[in-house]
Amino acid sequence: MASVTLEKVNKVFGRDHIIKDVDLSIGDGEFVVFVGPSGCGKSTLLRLIAGLESISDGDLNIGGTVVNELPPRERGVGMVFQSYALYPHMTVYDNMAFGLKLAKTNKETVHERVMSTAKILQLEELLHRKPKALSGGQRQRVAMGRAMAREPRILLFDEPLSNLDASLRVQMRNEIARLHNRLGSTMIYVTHDQVEAMTLADKIVVLNRGHVEQVGSPHELYQRPATKFVAGFIGSPTMNFLPAKLLNGATDGCRVNVAGLGDVTLPQAADGYSQGSSLTLGVRPEHLRLEAPQGDNCFDIVNVEYLGNEVYVYLEPKEGKTLLIHRSEAPSQWKEGQQVSLVPDTEHVHLFDESGAALMLSDARSAA
Ligand SMILES: Nc1ncnc2c1ncn2[C@@H]1O[C@H](COP(=O)(O)OP(=O)(O)OP(=O)(O)O)[C@@H](O)[C@H]1O
Ligand SMILES: [Mg+2]
Repeated sequence: MASVTLEKVNKVFGRDHIIKDVDLSIGDGEFVVFVGPSGCGKSTLLRLIAGLESISDGDLNIGGTVVNELPPRERGVGMVFQSYALYPHMTVYDNMAFGLKLAKTNKETVHERVMSTAKILQLEELLHRKPKALSGGQRQRVAMGRAMAREPRILLFDEPLSNLDASLRVQMRNEIARLHNRLGSTMIYVTHDQVEAMTLADKIVVLNRGHVEQVGSPHELYQRPATKFVAGFIGSPTMNFLPAKLLNGATDGCRVNVAGLGDVTLPQAADGYSQGSSLTLGVRPEHLRLEAPQGDNCFDIVNVEYLGNEVYVYLEPKEGKTLLIHRSEAPSQWKEGQQVSLVPDTEHVHLFDESGAALMLSDARSAA
């Protein structure tokens, strides 16, 4: 087990600056999840930590030592990839023992480690089988076992569940969470999957074009996204954004005019912004209320999706084509073709300035 610290870590491939000044501190035993759009550098960052790529600039520290120059096998990290590529001609036992044998571990220790790992992952019954005689989930467990048998200080996962079907993903997600509880090892996990990130992470790192956009607990990122990018990335269906103009702002709150919603009073402090500043209002689908249409501020319901436990209502503004989404528990009274007005829950809306930075809640509100 070990902590991991990145200080101003950069990675350049040829002319492309892929990882930019990443500062990150991961505590011993923490479960950290990297998320971000495709190509933002998640896998590259993981490979830098594993030692599969060299760091162009900055320091990587594992367990108190700078390891920039250390080869992968001396870093004490184990990695599980998306394509787990087990050796097809070897049994489960041999797949798990392979890395240990390569590291010239003595026979008894190899056996002990394979057996104890197999027990944790409930693979004992399958040790004699070849990978082709296993289900997807079992193969995934063997891939984890292969990484774990070497007793790494840190386990790295790169989208380990993305090849599995939906129900198996849920099952494996749960197993990984329980595994982390039992082993208490430091885990760094890359995923595209919102639910995996929210449910597994102690801490989520949101990456955007190679830089860290925000680091925080799932709750912090959901409740208080620091930027519009994070606000739009975390949460599904995604947050609604509407253009707004600042009417007046003070330290204890502000008043804005929002396209399609009219004038709204909000708890954000906007004293640093001049009257008329362009802002964006962000509101999650569950924090909108639909009402009978009032005046000019109305939207057309263009589609209603029934998901069993909840209902998504898609709304088209009079001006502009970006659809808004409203979410509520099923059943819903709303039908396609109706006109409605929207009322945001002002306790739960977000405001962003033109640079995408979130306006802070006024002191009185954030203390509450
Ligand atoms: N060996 C390499 N040489 C040149 N460019 C690379 C190399 N490896 C990655 N890149 C580039 O670095 C960027 C980040 O890639 P990376 O694989 O880290 O993204 P990612 O966030 O894991 O994306 P995805 O979600 O699609 O897996 C991409 O633009 C990719 O083309
Ligand atoms: Mg990747």
